[in-house]
Amino acid sequence: MSVLPILIFPDTRLKEKSAPVSEFTPEVAALIADLQDTMHASAGGVGISAPQVGFPKRIIVVDVSAHRRGSQEHNHGFLVLINPEILARGGRQIVREGCMSIPDYTANIERAQWVLVDALDRTGKQVILESIGFEAVAIQHEMDHLDGILFLDRVISIKTDIFRRKKYR
Ligand code: NI
Repeated sequence: MSVLPILIFPDTRLKEKSAPVSEFTPEVAALIADLQDTMHASAGGVGISAPQVGFPKRIIVVDVSAHRRGSQEHNHGFLVLINPEILARGGRQIVREGCMSIPDYTANIERAQWVLVDALDRTGKQVILESIGFEAVAIQHEMDHLDGILFLDRVISIKTDIFRRKKYR
């Protein structure tokens, strides 16, 4: 298991659509372990997607349980979601988001308040889960990466909703 280098905006690979996972090989298992290590190596990291480390596969990992807001709300702990699809969504929330691939900025982004997600777990078994609040934001953010969408693409006002920061946290 290892911490992988993260592609940084404006790397064009971040704009590509990732392919579904069809076989649960040892290579896929190793990639998931590396994603987990890479996410946890970043202070404040609550999610990462396979395309951000150069593997255009529809795999995300999310864990908001150690985050100051995520830990206060219902969450599922460490999640591996493969080929995830949103079956239903509702409500709205505006949350300040960051991204390991865009280390210099944060932005206020509007997301659904809750999502119902259909995915496969790391063994290929179907999981259907409902997520709310901050965890739902992280899932929506990471799922966007699978379609080549970055939070900058969802900013409503460049003048008022983007913020520069000194370091990733
Ligand atoms: Ni991101």
